[in-house]
Amino acid sequence: MNSRPRLLVTRRMPPNVTNRLQRDYAATLNADDAVFSAAELRTHSHGHDALLVCASEKLDGAAIDGLPASVRVIATFSVGYEHIDVDAAARRGIVVTNTPDVLTDATADVALLCLLGAARRAHEGQSLVRQGRWHGWHTTMLLGTHVSGKTLGIVGMGRIGRAVAQRARGFNMQVHYYNRSRLAPEFELGAVYHERVETLLPLAHFLSLNAPSSPETARLLNAARLAALPDRAIIVNTARGDLVDDDALIAALTSGKVAAAGLDVFRGEPALDPRYRELDNVFLLPHLGSATHETRDLMGFRCLDNLDAFFGDRRCPDALAPVRGEGGR
Ligand code: DGY
Repeated sequence: MNSRPRLLVTRRMPPNVTNRLQRDYAATLNADDAVFSAAELRTHSHGHDALLVCASEKLDGAAIDGLPASVRVIATFSVGYEHIDVDAAARRGIVVTNTPDVLTDATADVALLCLLGAARRAHEGQSLVRQGRWHGWHTTMLLGTHVSGKTLGIVGMGRIGRAVAQRARGFNMQVHYYNRSRLAPEFELGAVYHERVETLLPLAHFLSLNAPSSPETARLLNAARLAALPDRAIIVNTARGDLVDDDALIAALTSGKVAAAGLDVFRGEPALDPRYRELDNVFLLPHLGSATHETRDLMGFRCLDNLDAFFGDRRCPDALAPVRGEGGR
């Protein structure tokens, strides 16, 4: 690279990532880390060749069309890219890249944390201890749901879904999955494929959502599908909040049809449906899927690897093709 490309970084990055991007780019940082509106993003983008954004920035068709002509590449610090209209970007000749692989393990770990937290009533147990309401062990205190030997249904068997399956096998769970297409045996590792989510649901004592957000997966978990689960099933969502019909899930959690849920992601987050906070049988996390020091560094480095490739006239390793669907990430 001759002169350093001009890079707008829309959110505060981990220190190791900031050091590297300041070394290699003429970077404009967002010092107070406030999320840019579409208008602010357009204004701040002026004079930049590249954007490093997060899932918090909505780059729909209008926002993409409003970007200055200087912007030629957008790297998103996320594996999910439903916040970017990749088709609109392609029409303008803007390359969009994401960060697959590097957050797979961290996100699958949080899926298991949600699964166990929901099954073993972690929120209620924490509250009892923290609020000084625990008056001693007894044989029927906060009894949860046994995990070993149960069936886990996974919706979306991409990298993260497969990593969830790998962990679930360690808990001696049987894995069934729904995906757009069946995996090769070396990826399936004994998991049972369902061509339709409807045949998976009645078997799933636990259901983990691991599909990307797309028009096809919007409100995928609706009232009819919740009704098809075994009674007292447990729901885990570490994918995106818009895969769930919140009214239907809250009704099922309230009636006891669904015993518990472990949720790391929410529609409209951070402004989640307030009714979730009132339910003791929901284990809630604030979108921590990829939140480890190691993973967040790797996500930032992956963005920079892509930008380096772009400005070095090499193929971006994670350039997104403008096609979406229900396959997992
Ligand atoms: C991702 O990478 O998609 C995570 O959910 C963070 O947004």
